[in-house]
Parts: sequence; C-alpha cells; structure tokens
Amino acid sequence: MTIVSSPVQPLTPVGLSALLREGSTSEHQAAEGSSFMGELLAGRVSREGYAVYLSCLRRVYAALEGTAATLVADPVASAVIDPSLERLAAIDADLEFWGGFVEHASPATDAYVSRIQQTAGDGAAFVAHHYTRYLGDLSGGQAIGRLLARQFELDGAGVAFYAFPEIPKPKPYKDAYRERLDALPLDPGQQQAVLAEVKTVFGLNGALFAELTQQLPAWQH
Ligand code: HEM
Repeated sequence: MTIVSSPVQPLTPVGLSALLREGSTSEHQAAEGSSFMGELLAGRVSREGYAVYLSCLRRVYAALEGTAATLVADPVASAVIDPSLERLAAIDADLEFWGGFVEHASPATDAYVSRIQQTAGDGAAFVAHHYTRYLGDLSGGQAIGRLLARQFELDGAGVAFYAFPEIPKPKPYKDAYRERLDALPLDPGQQQAVLAEVKTVFGLNGALFAELTQQLPAWQH
C-alpha cells in the first residue's frame, strides 16, 4: 500500500510578500481611514495644505532615495531598489506647480526621516520602508492621483508623484516585485522583523496624517 502524505497547510502565509500584505492589513485600513486622506480626496483641502503634505513627502523620499544609494550593493536591499520607482524629481516638479517647498516644523516627518536613515546599515529593514511606500504608490496611489486631478481640476499638471512613466503597467511590476521579496535570503525570524518594520512604517505614516489632520482647520474654508 502506498501512503500518500497530505500536504501540511501552513498556518502563516507562505512567502514574505504574502506575510507583509496579510500581516499589515489592519495598519493599511487605518492609513486609508485617516481624516487627512479622506478630506483630501473629497476635495476639502486647500492648495496650501496639499503643498505642505507634498513638502513632508519630499523629505521622506529624499531620505528613502538617499538611503537606497548607500545600499545598492546590499544583497537584500538591492533586490528591490530600482531607479524607475524614484519619486524625488516628480515631487519637485509637483512642488513647483503647487507654489514651492513649504518650510514648516513637522515632528512626524522628522521621526519618519530618522527611522529611514537608521536602515542605512540594514538592508532588510530598508526593504520594509521601500515596500510600504513604493508598492502603496503603485497600488492605491494610482486611484488617489486620478481623484486629486479631478478634485483640483488639474489638467495633467501637479500630479507627477502618482505617475510612473517607466512603469506603464503596475500589476506585472508589482507581481515581479513580490517575487523578488519572496526570493530574499531571509529566515522566518528575519521575515517577521521585516513585517514588524512595515507596521512601524505604517505607524509613521499614520502619525504624519494625524499631524496634518490637526492643521486641517487652517486649510479648509
Ligand atoms: C486613501 C488611502 C489609500 C487607499 C485608497 C489605498 C488603496 C489601496 C489598494 C486598493 C491597494 C490594493 C491594490 C492591489 O491589490 O493591487 C493598496 C495596496 C497597498 N497600499 Fe494602499 N491605500 C491607501 C493608503 C496607503 C498608505 C498611506 C500606504 C502606506 C504609506 C499604503 C500602502 C499600501 C501597500 C504597501 C500596498 C500593497 C499591499 C501588497 O500588495 O502587498 N496605502 N492600497
């Protein structure tokens, strides 16, 4: 008699990409539900408010892309780093449209930037930051860009941040990105550490939204 062993169903998602996606669902929902995002997408934030938001993002992406430059030879981080994702030039083009970089105090941005900079010696932690921003930009970010263009009655200008001219089809790009995540040489403990950092990154984004939400009265008429 042949004994056929039935495959054991894993209790945790298989692969880092599934672990990150499924492990951060509630953090993602919290980010989606932020008042600042809701008001922005409903067209209830002034141009000045959007310029402040973009100015915060400029600092975040300068840190991300500056740190990426120090990790191009890192065996883990180099699997995801890709110049076609870079957002700094697009943000600068948008800022010119929205009236320029707004100098302002933002403890939430300071904390986020410093956390990114701390990953300079840690490729796996950097991957968590890279995944949370860029895969988000290639996902919900696409719909957000379209909504903003409608709400602010833009004619293609001012929303370069949401456009990836070198990635015409986000879906196959995201699939390939997830395959690269799954192929990373990380043991289960290291994978859990990446997930923990992803949750931290969502928290840092949430804190930034909360800070911006507090300023909403100044940006609403
Ligand atoms: C109103 C705000 C948001 C909306 C409407 C939104 C919407 C979405 C949607 C629909 C997807 C799934 C796309 C797909 O399955 O291919 C997605 C994925 C994602 N979003 Fe968001 N999102 C928002 C905010 C954010 C924020 C603030 C972040 C992080 C800073 C973020 C990070 C991500 C990530 C990392 C993914 C990819 C998940 C994965 O497939 O592994 N999102 N988002």
